[in-house]
Amino acid sequence: MNTEIIRNRKSVRTYKEQAIPEKILDQVRDYLEQDTGLFEVSIAFSILNARETGVSSPVILGADTYVAGKYKKQKNAELSFGYAFEKFILYATSLGLGTVWLAATIDRKAFEKAVHLKDDEVMPAVTPLGYAAEKRSIRENMMRKGMKSDSRRPFEELFFYENFQNPLRESDAGIWQLPLEMVRLAPSATNKQPWRVVAEKDQVHFYERKTKGYAKEATGDIQKVDLGIALCHFEIAAEESGLKGKFIQSDSGITAAEDTEYIATYRLER
Ligand SMILES: Cc1cc2nc3c(=O)[nH]c(=O)nc-3n(C[C@H](O)[C@H](O)[C@H](O)COP(=O)(O)O)c2cc1C
Repeated sequence: MNTEIIRNRKSVRTYKEQAIPEKILDQVRDYLEQDTGLFEVSIAFSILNARETGVSSPVILGADTYVAGKYKKQKNAELSFGYAFEKFILYATSLGLGTVWLAATIDRKAFEKAVHLKDDEVMPAVTPLGYAAEKRSIRENMMRKGMKSDSRRPFEELFFYENFQNPLRESDAGIWQLPLEMVRLAPSATNKQPWRVVAEKDQVHFYERKTKGYAKEATGDIQKVDLGIALCHFEIAAEESGLKGKFIQSDSGITAAEDTEYIATYRLER
């Protein structure tokens, strides 16, 4: 996985009526078996044939195959899900396949039945899998416009140095520039970009800035899933930059606004 794939990924909701070759599906299957999450929370994946299982999404045209993931309710589960599912999304992108995170606009009942969801489990999101059509549907174009899917908040609105009073300019970000730029390019639910970061010399703290009225029962805290995606992108870029570090959870006590929750820290190993 590399930052070029992160830059190339875009949501795909309009697909060609073209089957995925069995060989590619085998690669997908093998990948999903070894895809691991974060903080020891394991994620289980299913590949679903839409014709056989009856799963569908009102915003998707032309796709027959879906991948769904689920976890057992526990601490850090949303974070781990976001991290592992995005790793898969990027892997699929590297195989030339189109994907889109879907949490809200799906026939949730049908998907939950198809993955045999138990009472103590949550299936936050799914993705179709297939080849992108040459042209997006009118509906997809309208959705992208409505959510401003082609733009992201400026670097210094998302990222800070040492405290939240001190915006970090991209040109001052040093070793963190590439990893943070990859966070900025991440997909997020309705493109809300809830990731906030306070960088220091040898560590980077991640926070979730919660959008009001967003938490939903069926999907857990979907913006924590967004944060898991951010950690995935950050780690890929950090590795590519030759940095050695790992994620830990230890709240540094930096003063944050009430709607902003500490999530995790990337700490350089010396
Ligand atoms: C956790 C999550 C949930 C999402 N849920 C939906 C959804 O229910 N329906 C949909 O059409 N897009 C969904 N999206 C896709 C976002 O709208 C999309 O990523 C964002 O607008 C940015 O566009 P891009 O992915 O092309 O960069 C979701 C994305 C994430 C990360």
